[in-house]
Amino acid sequence: MSASINIALIIGSLRKESINRKFAEFIAAQMPDNVTIKEVHIADLPLYNQDYDDTTIDSYERVRQQLKDADAVLMVTPEHNRTMPAALKNVVDIGSRPYKKSVWTRKKVAVVTASPGSFGGINSGLDVRKSMQMLSAQVMIDPEIHLSRATDSLNEDGSVSERTQKFLQSFVTEFVKFAGQSRD
Ligand code: FNR
Repeated sequence: MSASINIALIIGSLRKESINRKFAEFIAAQMPDNVTIKEVHIADLPLYNQDYDDTTIDSYERVRQQLKDADAVLMVTPEHNRTMPAALKNVVDIGSRPYKKSVWTRKKVAVVTASPGSFGGINSGLDVRKSMQMLSAQVMIDPEIHLSRATDSLNEDGSVSERTQKFLQSFVTEFVKFAGQSRD
């Protein structure tokens, strides 16, 4: 039997009808039985302020603990103005502090981006990778998933088109291998 794997899912869009949420939900539904995937909710997190490092903020403690407990983190995110959305950057910053207590150190992280535009949100993905590299996370680099013209990959009922399902299923296979690899 495969060892159990615990995945934390962060969705970079706060929007109710988010296309990224639809792809994230499809990806989550493809996980094998030995994988537990739980969303880390980021909408209620106060904007990071270094002054908070000496205080206890319940929502900060919640996300830091969820990220610490995870074998790997999967981010599924749009691009806002050629970079990651502010809400996603906020949780990156919250997880990185207090100094020397970052939850990102050696954490396995994978990023999927989706956009209705032709670049697929690639700059958002690259900027997440840049921050994660600086934070000494282990970033999954292959395959890189940036879904361009992503609204075309959704059927009218919001389900993922067959072609993109296959693509995302092959990503899940590689991601689960990556998440299950020993960190030492
Ligand atoms: C966007 N969008 C966008 N798209 C893109 O490919 N590159 C970009 O730089 C931006 N910039 C941007 C800024 C802001 C403030 C908004 C609200 C939107 C469009 C974006 O990809 C589109 O709204 C997606 O549908 C957002 O993803 P969700 O929220 O549907 O998951």
